[in-house]
Amino acid sequence: MADSLEGYYPAIEEKALEENTMKLASVDGVKILFIKQKNKIYVIDNRCPHQACGFSGGKLDDEFIVCPCHDWRFNLESGEYEAKPFYKLKFYEYKIVSGKIYVKLDD
Ligand code: FES
Repeated sequence: MADSLEGYYPAIEEKALEENTMKLASVDGVKILFIKQKNKIYVIDNRCPHQACGFSGGKLDDEFIVCPCHDWRFNLESGEYEAKPFYKLKFYEYKIVSGKIYVKLDD
């Protein structure tokens, strides 16, 4: 039997996400940012944990995403802002089924 997609919402096609790019999508009204870096996909809340600026206007720098508002650099693996790890990215769980990325939103 296929994996259950209960609680998951269809988002974007996996192939729409190219290496070293990010793509913003609205998933059930929530702004979600999809990132592909070093062949890995990260799915995060588009709002920066500092003052809620949109990461989609920022840039990728190796294993970091850099917020456009105050240039804080967040590590994509740990989610932590390098200077104050208390500030962390919010990651969403996802599954890829038949080439489409599905995101699990909070209840
Ligand atoms: S809002 Fe992102 S670093 Fe300040």
